Amino acid sequence: MPTFDLYAMEPEEPLRQVPASGAARFTWEYDDGRDRLLALYQKGKDKQWDGQKRIDWELEVDPYDPLGTPDEAMSLYGTRHWAKLTEKDKGELRKHYASWQFSQFLHGEQGAMICAARIVESVPDLDAKFYSATQTMDEARHAEIYGRFLHEKIGMLYPINDNLQSLLDDTLRDARWDMPYLGMQVLIEGLALAAFGMIRDTTDKPLPKQILAYVMQDEARHVAFGRMALRDYYRQLTDAELREREEFVIEGCYLMRDRLRGVEVLENFGIPRAEAEEYSEQSEFLTLFRKLLFSRIVPCVKDIGLWGKRLQQAYVDMGVLEMGDASLDLLMSEDEEIAEKLDAERLAAEEKARVAEVTGAIDAGRAAG
Ligand SMILES: [Fe+2]
Ligand SMILES: [Fe+2]
Repeated sequence: MPTFDLYAMEPEEPLRQVPASGAARFTWEYDDGRDRLLALYQKGKDKQWDGQKRIDWELEVDPYDPLGTPDEAMSLYGTRHWAKLTEKDKGELRKHYASWQFSQFLHGEQGAMICAARIVESVPDLDAKFYSATQTMDEARHAEIYGRFLHEKIGMLYPINDNLQSLLDDTLRDARWDMPYLGMQVLIEGLALAAFGMIRDTTDKPLPKQILAYVMQDEARHVAFGRMALRDYYRQLTDAELREREEFVIEGCYLMRDRLRGVEVLENFGIPRAEAEEYSEQSEFLTLFRKLLFSRIVPCVKDIGLWGKRLQQAYVDMGVLEMGDASLDLLMSEDEEIAEKLDAERLAAEEKARVAEVTGAIDAGRAAG
């Protein structure tokens, strides 16, 4: 079904055009790759997988509770509106929220694909071009999977959030080659990864769990690439240049924390924007969720050397400074393990079902004979 028939509200424009600036770069040195980057490129090739085959699309999803979201996690919970909602309304609300959330994931994946392709074009070295080409393919697969989930299992999509769009625009418009890395690989992917992880670890629904676990397995490589490239490059920048990057990070973090909350959903239910914002501000659950969204960004920013006074102060203000001490390597290897473990469990369950089927057939044969 055409996506435009499924949008809960009309996207502002049918096609978004962001004018690009900066050069496309060719290199003639084909034999001078950095080992770490080439190893990541090899891993990118080895670990490709096909969402049409690896994910069990037969699994049913209740569109009115796709993630098993508890009441307390809904921003209207505890407000004067909650008591008035029927069970049917609550189901509708859950559907809209899941649709909004996964639609932002979907649009974000498209943005990631476009940024990765931009890096292929603009980065000067061949090893980084090669790696980024595999990431472009990874992001295409992710967009495909989220798109299928929304079309087939939820049956509703939301347009991209304005602020996510403007952060993507800023990231793509900038002529400095490191900006797609910083805006996309560090900020947007960092946020997305934290959100994926929270859902992966709390949902009891098998299909979204598979999707998130497998997508996160790839994202571990993407973050590693961004860190490697930026750590090397930021060592060579002047203080003034570093401060500019920090300002961009500070602004982006506040924007995503304060303006990416799904108030569009409540507006769709007739609740005025100011009131909707107040509810998401008051909700204890959402306050915690928003804080945890920074669990991947803060250690990454610190690791690549953007750790000036103003940035630290901003993180103190957001209450997330101490997250800088988390080990990204550990988080990433856990992401990979979780996906592999899920594969192993599914294989074991299939094996068990096969054995049961065979024994059942033998028993039936004996009984008949
Ligand atoms: Fe992705
Ligand atoms: Fe990614």
